Amino acid sequence: QQTAPFDYVIFGGTGDLTMRKLLPALYNQLRIGHVPEDARIIGTARSELSCDEYRERAREALEHFLPPAHKDAALIERFLKKVHYITLDGTKSDHNWDDLHALLEQSPADRIRVFYFSTAPQLFEAISENLHRFNFITPQSRVVLEKPIGTDSASARAINEGVSRFFKEEQIFRIDHYLGKETVQDIIALRFANPVFNAVWSAEHIQSIQITAAETVGVEGRAAYYDTSGALRDMIQNHLLQVLSLCAMEAPADLGADSVRDAKVKVLKALRPIPADKVAQETLRAQYVAGEMAGSKVPGYLEELGTESATETYAVMRAYVDTPRWKDVPFYIRTAKRSHKKVSEVVVTFKKTASSLFGKDGEHNRLVIRLQPDEGFGLALNIKNPSAADFSLQHGAMDGRFAPADGSLIPDSYERLMLDAVRGYPALFIRRDEVEAAWAWVEPTLQTWAANKVPMTHYPAGSYGPEEARKFIASTGDAWHEDMGA
Ligand code: BG6
Repeated sequence: QQTAPFDYVIFGGTGDLTMRKLLPALYNQLRIGHVPEDARIIGTARSELSCDEYRERAREALEHFLPPAHKDAALIERFLKKVHYITLDGTKSDHNWDDLHALLEQSPADRIRVFYFSTAPQLFEAISENLHRFNFITPQSRVVLEKPIGTDSASARAINEGVSRFFKEEQIFRIDHYLGKETVQDIIALRFANPVFNAVWSAEHIQSIQITAAETVGVEGRAAYYDTSGALRDMIQNHLLQVLSLCAMEAPADLGADSVRDAKVKVLKALRPIPADKVAQETLRAQYVAGEMAGSKVPGYLEELGTESATETYAVMRAYVDTPRWKDVPFYIRTAKRSHKKVSEVVVTFKKTASSLFGKDGEHNRLVIRLQPDEGFGLALNIKNPSAADFSLQHGAMDGRFAPADGSLIPDSYERLMLDAVRGYPALFIRRDEVEAAWAWVEPTLQTWAANKVPMTHYPAGSYGPEEARKFIASTGDAWHEDMGA
């Protein structure tokens, strides 16, 4: 439903994320009636732009990134009237803060203010300090921190400390857009609203869980950021460990922010450490080389970059959650750029039931939760082969969809999250202890990779990944989803 009136101030207002995701998300929320008419969106960045020039950029972004079904010329005009721009370097105390002040002063003093930091994380503290210095932080203010929160445990702690000098923890909203995906929230629904899954959700019945987020895109215009990050920092430390937490957590007492986050952080803290001498065995890293995608040749990562680099564009980690529920069940976490196809999914492979009834065991039951695209789930079962005279088994499948019943599109993850920040509803944001626990777990791997103690493997762009990945997963008795057959 509609939120209270708000002023949304975006630092990094000319950036790719703002244009690609944040403005389209707010537009869509206006479209479905959740944004009140007097809400304002204030972009700020260092670029010298007039408000009209900024609106023009915003218009182009909406034209480009909105799904055709959501484009409405009159509504775009209505939306753009709410958009403002101030040339402002948030890290400098002697910049155009007066302009921001003049704009915000037009609203009642108790209006909700959301400061969205879509900038490099090293700037978060300085911007917070200036917001404090010039009295912008009211009791009704909140701050949204874009990922990545740091590059390791120490920098994450420093950023969290820095921002919390000026904002209280309940005002800080650390975004992980995977949690805003309806399909990721469906993990909670599938597990806890369905006894048919809830009853078998443990090491007793589950052999392994694989969590994949593969993309066809390369590093696009983001090479400068990506090359200092790599696949592990970019996707695993945050998005995929969040998905893992939801798959592995114990039932929270309720769906309140603290109950769910308490349950997730317990999983992160129970992840079995991967010490330096185990990293080569428990992880795999790779870079794409030139290959072919959809019939066209595409360059390798190093060619795109134009320089040498030891940054991985593909990463796999084998994780174990050391709780009684998950005793020795491997969780395979995998991510890739320039993969064969775009797919984010969770594949739960159940143990085979040994049975003498059918002559030979059936295949594994398997639940595939398709986070994107083709959002839904599939359940692989054993059924009787109808054309066999004996009782031999064959594969049977059930399929379900997460799409809204009215045929509308699944909302983009940022839509929900941006307005949850206005509502002051933090359940789908990451608490400080979660961020730090996730960094603590990946850190030995990052360090071991950085010291080049694990060989870099390679895969052609457009493939499923390096050959070595097959041996990697086979070493604990599993296969990747694409190699499982049906
Ligand atoms: C971002 C990463 O957090 O997630 C990007 O920085 C990645 O590199 C993106 O492309 C993937 O998001 P999605 O929603 O398309 O899976």
